[in-house]
Amino acid sequence: MTGWNRKDLIAIYDLDPEEINLILDTAEEFKKVSGRRIKKVPALRGKTVVNLFVEPSTRTRTSFELAEQRLSADIINIAAASSSLTKGETLLDTARNIEAMQVDFIVMRHSAVGAHYFLADRIRCGVINAGDGAHEHPTQALLDIFTIREKKGRIKGLNVTILGDILHSRVARSNIWGLLKLGANVTVAGPSTLVPHEFDSIGVRVCDNLPDALEDADVVNLLRIQHERQRAAFFPSIGEYASVFGLNPKTMRHLKPGALVMHPGPINRGVELDSKIADGPQSVILEQVTNGIAVRMAVLYLISNALSR
Ligand code: CP
Repeated sequence: MTGWNRKDLIAIYDLDPEEINLILDTAEEFKKVSGRRIKKVPALRGKTVVNLFVEPSTRTRTSFELAEQRLSADIINIAAASSSLTKGETLLDTARNIEAMQVDFIVMRHSAVGAHYFLADRIRCGVINAGDGAHEHPTQALLDIFTIREKKGRIKGLNVTILGDILHSRVARSNIWGLLKLGANVTVAGPSTLVPHEFDSIGVRVCDNLPDALEDADVVNLLRIQHERQRAAFFPSIGEYASVFGLNPKTMRHLKPGALVMHPGPINRGVELDSKIADGPQSVILEQVTNGIAVRMAVLYLISNALSR
């Protein structure tokens, strides 16, 4: 496979459209593996991956682990709470010690923006960002875009609305860069306190009116309110947020019948998304989760080939 020369995947911002499309096309092939009776290929046999999660995760960690297993890699999982990070060891020392054990990849989630760039410049193994603070979550955006492309047949020209806590969302930032690079029209929407107006300078429509944000949308991607990252109250109450900006049977009237409803998870049911919609016919939320494995297999495979050259 030619066209991929990176040893790391840290941000969608860094990628050009050809690189994004290469990941999506490669993921399409890997999706077939998960449909087989034996869900395994030898592409990463003899390679070792360390999954280092310094922030909680259900979907991303499990999905990476399954992707690694399906590529036949050897895997070690390190949770921050049970690592020597709790004894004051620096992140770089932790990573260098991991690398000294001839590890090929570190998949890391960390609360510090830029932690992945810092490590990638200082260690030889591939570094894959599984989410850094409010900066980027590249494989989440890639699986979101993969799911949209699979369902709609294209990305260019589609109207995608990202609704909710944009301010604190790494998923929003990665999606915005990826969708813009592939030619989609992106709207960000939510309470004006959670939707930075700076986004209009990069060609994103900023909207604080739900009906307007939903009217022409082909896709609406909902984001949860990130209480753990908020230092202040950004809206009067959860109930008011749910009634004004939540997607529920009443606000769904503004959305086209064929529009996709997406959510990266975890969902705050009854806040940004009503259960009738989350589990309804327009929701592709669990398909996003399924597609995450193929996308992560593609990323690991492409980086492994680049590291071997
Ligand atoms: N979408 C996502 O990042 O979920 P987790 O926090 O469970 O990994």
